[in-house]
Amino acid sequence: MRKPKRMTHSTNTIEIIKFMKDLASEAGAIVASYFQGCFTVQSKDEAPNGIDIVTDADKASEHFIMDQIRKSFPAHDILTEETKTEITGSKFLWVVDPLDGTVNFSHSYPHFGISIGFMEDNIIKAGVVFDPMRQEMFWAYRSGGAFLNEAAISVTQTDNLYRCIVGTGFPYDKAKSSINNIKEFCQVIPKVQGVRRSGSAALDLAWVACGRLDGFWELKLKPWDFMAGTILAHEAGGKATDRYGSSIELWSPSIVATNTFIHDDLLRILTPDD
Ligand code: IPD
Ligand code: CA
Ligand code: CA
Repeated sequence: MRKPKRMTHSTNTIEIIKFMKDLASEAGAIVASYFQGCFTVQSKDEAPNGIDIVTDADKASEHFIMDQIRKSFPAHDILTEETKTEITGSKFLWVVDPLDGTVNFSHSYPHFGISIGFMEDNIIKAGVVFDPMRQEMFWAYRSGGAFLNEAAISVTQTDNLYRCIVGTGFPYDKAKSSINNIKEFCQVIPKVQGVRRSGSAALDLAWVACGRLDGFWELKLKPWDFMAGTILAHEAGGKATDRYGSSIELWSPSIVATNTFIHDDLLRILTPDD
């Protein structure tokens, strides 16, 4: 682990990060209370077999987070997974996944998180990903480093793919779309030590940042899945681009985040042949 940086954050940054951590922690408590109790599960799509779902926990967490952001920053825009919001063109945008890993959650599989990103002028400035089961708060802000709870974190230094474990995920329309990551998965798996499919892209990115994974890729994520996680990876010394090596934007269709050392090798494997 890298030595903790000296805290020289500006007051504004300290306030925003504190707000984000408190928000993620309270949203995590809401989600955890549903996890230990009862919740209903609804399908969001028809075909095939309605595997994209939403639960009471997603809705309650999102309602709480949006409410708090609106109270504190009424002029800021918010982009969340479950509620259609109006984007007014504010220079500040909150990008929120109130429960990343809903399928895990709905199966009592304790691996999910709350992801909150804060953007200014289309640039991600700060990100928080909270794992309420492990009480792990991952947070980072631009040029300020990345942290797990109070300790500075950094990516691995492994440069040989055969010594790496990398994470990935598959889109909900995997049975009907050919852009479903199955070909890419088959291309990567013989070239690495292992591939993990955790069911939470936000935690995967946080785990790249803290060195539990050497890299991660996915092809069809949404901004709420990856925005906070990409700044964690970047501030921990890693690299995040799309599958073609271009910078991450709000609606980037693919994400590759690595410890930097294996980035080009992973991109080469993921580059479409046609
Ligand atoms: C999903 C998770 C999963 C990833 C999917 C995402 P959700 O988000 O991050 O790991 O593979 O592509 O949609 O639906 O649990 O918020
Ligand atoms: Ca998600
Ligand atoms: Ca979600």
